[in-house]
Amino acid sequence: MNFSLASANPLTQDAELGDVLILLAADGLDLGEPLQAGLSLLVKRALAAGHWSTDSGKRLSLYLPESRPAARVELLGIGDGAPARIRDALAKLVKELAVDPLKLAVCFAQDATDAQWTAAMTAIAAGGHVYGTTKPSARGGLKKVLLGAPNAATRKSSLAYGKALVAGMTLAREWANRPGNHATPGMLGDVARHIAAQARKDGGHGQLECEVLEQKQIEKLGMGSFLSVAKGSDEAPRFIVLRYEGADDSQRPLVFVGKGITFDSGGISLKPGAGMDEMKFDMGGAASVLGLFESLRLLRPKINVVGLIPTCENMPSGRALKPGDVVQSMSGQTIEILNTDAEGRLILCDALTYAERFQPQAVVDIATLTGNCVLALGHLRSGLFSTNDVLAHELQRAADESSDLCWRMPMDDVYGKDLKSNFADMANVAGRLAGAISAAKFLERFTGRYPWAHLDIAGTAWDEGAAKGATGRPVPLLLQFALNMAEQPVDFGPSVAQQQSQADKVAAPSRTAKTGKVAKAAPRSKSGKRAG
Ligand code: BES
Ligand code: MN
Ligand code: ZN
Repeated sequence: MNFSLASANPLTQDAELGDVLILLAADGLDLGEPLQAGLSLLVKRALAAGHWSTDSGKRLSLYLPESRPAARVELLGIGDGAPARIRDALAKLVKELAVDPLKLAVCFAQDATDAQWTAAMTAIAAGGHVYGTTKPSARGGLKKVLLGAPNAATRKSSLAYGKALVAGMTLAREWANRPGNHATPGMLGDVARHIAAQARKDGGHGQLECEVLEQKQIEKLGMGSFLSVAKGSDEAPRFIVLRYEGADDSQRPLVFVGKGITFDSGGISLKPGAGMDEMKFDMGGAASVLGLFESLRLLRPKINVVGLIPTCENMPSGRALKPGDVVQSMSGQTIEILNTDAEGRLILCDALTYAERFQPQAVVDIATLTGNCVLALGHLRSGLFSTNDVLAHELQRAADESSDLCWRMPMDDVYGKDLKSNFADMANVAGRLAGAISAAKFLERFTGRYPWAHLDIAGTAWDEGAAKGATGRPVPLLLQFALNMAEQPVDFGPSVAQQQSQADKVAAPSRTAKTGKVAKAAPRSKSGKRAG
């Protein structure tokens, strides 16, 4: 989507804006300054006649006798003007309009804030997007939009932010939408490489680097858990490492880990057939990390960020992982597989161990991890899990600021107690209840060495039904969080392991062993694999 900004107030200046002008009006609309082409009079009449109001989603189509500012004007109420209101009302209208190719202008009738600008831009991008990669007959979609408001000229920075966010969300949406045979682990690796190549072209030498590890290299790292999931598929796994360096290399990076299951059949614990196609979206976490890097490439904030993507298919076959199998993770901890459909945690745990080498300020993993999270929170909010209050607070704040909402879930140790196994250090599933939380408790066992949070996006990464398609979430949340941290770094405090060793100095030394939370601090070999 190509956004351009009107350089002056397009509503009062005599200018042609396109075929259709959408005029966004919030409560308290003041028509003091006359709008061009007698538009003020028309709006006043519609208001007086009660045919239109600024209530959220209220619409009125007007056709103008002369073609300025546009042949057709769509008045659209946005109520109190909250970003969520703008997003819902505008995306719906743009989607309706974008069936035909058209020159569209979208203007705020009143001064608009940064958050309102971004909401409008993401709504236009969502409503104006038509997926065509594997559907050549797809028609419509928007290419170009002119944006305006009374304060448009002062909005260059929100335009840059919105453009970068939209580019990241569009990339995430595109790759999440692609079916498994058009979005293989190898292809995701190529997307990451492409982002890095683009960054080099932009002139940011060495600022955004990408490395794509293949089977042999993943084996050398000792990622036995990740590889056990990939075994059943004919498609080779990849481990993608993206590094963005916007700050001095002494500054510890934020690490984002995205689940990249390009198709989740469930494996030997095969899923039922109905709706199984939606498991092509099981790389939504990976897509959001790729999207974040696309946004970082465009915005170049002063921060260091690492993206890690373990990616493979989860398939049944004669070589596939079986229930009862025990695998060894990169951390050294062994895992008894009780359900091969709980594969997300198996690929993430090795990526979480790999993350240690970056000495991160914080690690956030993003995963379409559990159907249970969808039952708990539906499609509005992602599940947020963390034992670090400061990190949880910052993610929650970024979610609110970007209106890409999440909700913090509990992490009491009791929720993880059923992960015990007689045959391994842990099982990969607990009971039927609170499955989103026990999944988080599983991951927590691999994250003792840094502040960590987990986002379960199973309910938010895609829409179902007639509007089936990826949402581009949670790129807004991740980008907001990264930019907040670039602007005002926050000390997330010590990792659980550091807290533990502090506590061990005063308390009985048996505590660490009892909680079993922290991987044993065994020495590492050169390859990064922990000995023993
Ligand atoms: N990718 C799924 C989670 C999922 C299911 C996301 C439905 C969105 C909609 C994940 O790999 C999975 O299969 N999880 C299982 C875990 C269970 C076996 C403990 C689930 O949620 O049923
Ligand atoms: Mn699964
Ligand atoms: Zn899955």
